[in-house]
Amino acid sequence: MGIDTSCDDTSCAVVEDGKKILSNVISSQTEIHSLYGGVVPEIASRKHLEIIGFAANEALRRAGLTLGDLDALAVTAGPGLPGALLVGVCYAKALAAGISRPVVGVNHVEGHIYANFLKDDIPEFPCLNLVVSGGHTELILMVDHGRYVQLGETLDDAAGEVFDKVAREMGLPYPGGPYLDRAAENGDPTFCKFPHPKIEGSKYAFSFSGLKTRAIQEFEKRGRREDVIDHLCASFREAVVRDLLYYVPELVNRYGVKSFALAGGVAANKLLRARAKELCTQIGIPLHIPPLVLCTDNGAMIASAGYQKLIRGFCDGPNLSIDSDLELGSWGGE
Ligand code: KG4
Ligand code: ZN
Repeated sequence: MGIDTSCDDTSCAVVEDGKKILSNVISSQTEIHSLYGGVVPEIASRKHLEIIGFAANEALRRAGLTLGDLDALAVTAGPGLPGALLVGVCYAKALAAGISRPVVGVNHVEGHIYANFLKDDIPEFPCLNLVVSGGHTELILMVDHGRYVQLGETLDDAAGEVFDKVAREMGLPYPGGPYLDRAAENGDPTFCKFPHPKIEGSKYAFSFSGLKTRAIQEFEKRGRREDVIDHLCASFREAVVRDLLYYVPELVNRYGVKSFALAGGVAANKLLRARAKELCTQIGIPLHIPPLVLCTDNGAMIASAGYQKLIRGFCDGPNLSIDSDLELGSWGGE
């Protein structure tokens, strides 16, 4: 069973052999956080605590199993909201102790990467991963299971975060990313030009904060008129997607990359999916994108990552604790 309570979704899933999803229960807290325009950490932890037992039972019921059928527990141990993580980790440890099974902590970003391993046709190594979510924008080279090289990350805001903030300014519902994506479908992407940011020093870094400010300024300049929203969303989405894929051709060449993979909530973005497809066809490498339900937070991806760790002998005991700065694991050997 894989458990994720890192942010505002309570998810428990049952996965067989790290690959076959038997159930994937995701209980969203969107409704309550939307009242505040963003995730309220204290509310998130309380809701996780209320829901997690039901989510675990429901995951077992849908899989047609009972507790004793589980071989192991995998749980997100970080990064994430500390109070929220704590609920999942404590629950997983208690359950594991109760049924005398091993428990393993999983890095949340690593979990997102493993959303592309819940199928037969898995990414070939070295695989370049673009992990884009509400909290992360990272380029990670996966050399093997549990062996990663971090090539680039954002110097300021994450891509999902700027989608959400720009959408909020434009009065779109929470969480803004999917609504901005939808509005952009009806707009003209050439309406407004947002230049690619010049980033000094770090070679493969991203920066989205300036782009976010520019988009909001352009909206204000036009008197926050409703009839420009679709066009500004389209132009903004165009710029973010361009920047997200900017380094891919160079990195594929430089590291002999054999496959490219998208992961994280923003991998649900329509334009990003389409552009990544075009790019991979041009370069001549396969593209892996999880189905929509596995892009955003879910327990199945955590179970998949946990499975790979467990079969390599990595296991945590009752001392497993949350770690908001948890590094991407290096459990894949030399
Ligand atoms: O991976 P995820 O569920 O949670 C984190 O680990 O952060 O990602 C959530 C993020 C939110 O910022 C949400 O707005 C964004 O993913 N998102 C999208 C789309 N669907 C979800 N952003 C752009 N376009 C979408 N279609
Ligand atoms: Zn996530």
